[in-house]
Amino acid sequence: MRQAPAVSRLHTPPRPTELAHLLLGRCIQRGDLVVDATAGNGHDALFLAQQVAPGGHVHAFDIQPEAIVRAQHRIAEAGLADHVTFHHTDHASMATRLPHESVRAVLFNLGYLPGSDRATTTMRDSTLTALHAAAQLLHSGGLLSLVCYPGHPQGAEELAEIRAMWPSWASAGWRIATYSLPFTTAASPVLWLATKP
Ligand SMILES: C[S@@+](CC[C@H](N)C(=O)[O-])C[C@H]1O[C@@H](n2cnc3c(N)ncnc32)[C@H](O)[C@@H]1O
Repeated sequence: MRQAPAVSRLHTPPRPTELAHLLLGRCIQRGDLVVDATAGNGHDALFLAQQVAPGGHVHAFDIQPEAIVRAQHRIAEAGLADHVTFHHTDHASMATRLPHESVRAVLFNLGYLPGSDRATTTMRDSTLTALHAAAQLLHSGGLLSLVCYPGHPQGAEELAEIRAMWPSWASAGWRIATYSLPFTTAASPVLWLATKP
């Protein structure tokens, strides 16, 4: 069943991850095909499954078996297992697994698996490859949502590279937006949204 993001419980202003769900919720429709590029603990995959069911489908990627197990458990508990396919592989391979120009939204929530060893985290080069793969999968008007975490060294590198990438996408007609909480004591996550022309 499609559930609206829990607006009444949002922080004001919202956290970048909350705003991502709010805006994805406006874009995604029942029956859509969508991608969770970093399944992790399954919160985002569950949100996406609630938006597309019934009739739609989520493809969720993660390189850590532990993440796949945790996310599968969360989705099964919600009774949405039929609406999510898990891929235990690098998200850079997503363009080889799904038809191009077929996807309404791709969500990346970068960094490491919360509650786990921080050694396995998304990395600048493979993230860039995956973003280009996501661009191939999206159809015109589709939305790419990306949350970066510059509070750890790989995350800061990743954010710098991603920030440098957007001007060429904007020149190609993508509509790019960003959001963060700039004056927090710890480095704020940064949300990027990009709509395909
Ligand atoms: C911040 S967590 C994602 C949170 C998750 N979306 C949720 O709702 O709980 C980041 C995840 O990215 C995964 N990851 C890191 N590198 C990856 C890669 N190259 N391909 C796919 N997943 C990757 C990690 O294993 C980790 O589970």
